[in-house]
Amino acid sequence: MNDWPYPFLFAHRGGGRLAPENTLAGMMKAAEYGYGAVEFDVKLTADNVCVLLHDDTLERTTDGHGPMASKRFAQLQDIDAGRWKGEEFAGEPIPAFSDVGLYCVRNQLLANVEIKPCPGREVDTGKLVARDAALFWQGEAVPPLLSSFSYEALQAAVTAAPWLPVGWLIDHWHEDWQARLQTLEAVSLHCNHKLLTAARVDAVREAGYHVLAYTVNDVARARELKGWGVSGVFTDELGVMRDEGVLGEG
Ligand code: G3P
Ligand code: MG
Repeated sequence: MNDWPYPFLFAHRGGGRLAPENTLAGMMKAAEYGYGAVEFDVKLTADNVCVLLHDDTLERTTDGHGPMASKRFAQLQDIDAGRWKGEEFAGEPIPAFSDVGLYCVRNQLLANVEIKPCPGREVDTGKLVARDAALFWQGEAVPPLLSSFSYEALQAAVTAAPWLPVGWLIDHWHEDWQARLQTLEAVSLHCNHKLLTAARVDAVREAGYHVLAYTVNDVARARELKGWGVSGVFTDELGVMRDEGVLGEG
């Protein structure tokens, strides 16, 4: 529990609300604002390239169409993943995980890599994201923290790269959380912050696991969670958390 290397604040989906989610522009925004860690979502193309995208389909955050699981990497090259957020981001591509991994390592941005499989691709996504993460962060002092809502993907990730730390993501409370974390040899439980109470945080910490909370955009709530012993929160409000001093508190 004591050698936790990650800061309290993770910039959610890269740049939070300041940049198009899951793009290099977002990672740059996090670095520019002084963040020490980013969270982003990774899934597979049809030809098994790891890329950053939150949704199963392209429409919400790009000018592409259809499910990511049906696209080959080469078919993504002309897709714009920035303009929806503002003209200044026009031309921003869907990044390969390799490009974002390299950016993080070069700029000393720590990473929580969320494995976000398209339906039916859980095992392959867990395996390939973990394999890539191990490669991109090879020799780095602090490894990327892998997480997923998909327990199956996490099991595959642990099998592929057992030395990387993993956290299980939940958006409803599972009474068997301790057995599930133990089976995975996880280091952390990543909860929707609305699920958390001081008692639940105490119980998870007493069992020897860190608690992380998403998505925390309110300064008072971030401080309350920290006071309960939560080790990290994911925020979209990069500017507010910085300007109100939460970022400076570690
Ligand atoms: O990893 C924390 C958070 O990103 C999980 O939710 O939907 O934003 O990926 P989502
Ligand atoms: Mg995420």
